[in-house]
Amino acid sequence: MKSADKIIKFLKLEKHPEGGYFRETYRSAGDIEAEALPERYERDHAYSTAIYFLLKRGEFSAFHEIVQDEVWHHYAGAAVHVHIIDHNGKYRIMKTGMDLEKGETPQGVVYGGEVFGATVANDPDHDFALVGCTVAPGFDFRDFRLIAREELMDRFPEHAEIIGRLTRS
Ligand code: GUN
Repeated sequence: MKSADKIIKFLKLEKHPEGGYFRETYRSAGDIEAEALPERYERDHAYSTAIYFLLKRGEFSAFHEIVQDEVWHHYAGAAVHVHIIDHNGKYRIMKTGMDLEKGETPQGVVYGGEVFGATVANDPDHDFALVGCTVAPGFDFRDFRLIAREELMDRFPEHAEIIGRLTRS
C-alpha cells in the first residue's frame, strides 16, 4: 500500500469538504460561552481542537475561511504550501515543512478571517504531506466557509491564477 493510503488507514482519516483527509484528535471537554467570546463567535465554542490533515500530491485544499487563528504543524512527507490572501488582499505562501534551508518552518499560523487553501510542495521523495492543525477556540463547521471562485475573483482579481487553481466551482 502506498504510504499516504497507509497513513489514511492507520490514522482513520476521512475526506474533508475542503479536500484532503482529516480526523479530529482533540476536542476540549469544556466550552467557552458565547458571551465571553468576541462577537464574531456566534455560539459557545470548545476551548481548543486539533486535527490530523493529509493532502496527496495533485489534490488541494480549496480556498476557505474560519474565524479563529489556526496553527499548522508538520509531521511527515513533503511540505505543505498554505496559500493565504490576507486582510489587505495581499497573497503569501506559508511553507510548513522541515527543509529549513528552503525557508520551510515546522509551524506556521493562518490568522482568523484570512482566505486560505493548500497544496503539496514539490518533493521527489514524497507524494503527500501530513500536518496537524490546532485552533482555539475550537473548530465548528458552522464557522467554516468554502468560498466560491466567482466571489474570490470579484474580491481579488489580481490573484486570478491561484484562485483558479484552488477552487472547484
Ligand atoms: N476540524 C474539521 N475541519 C477542521 C479544520 O479545517 N481545521 C481545524 N483546526 N479543525 C477542523
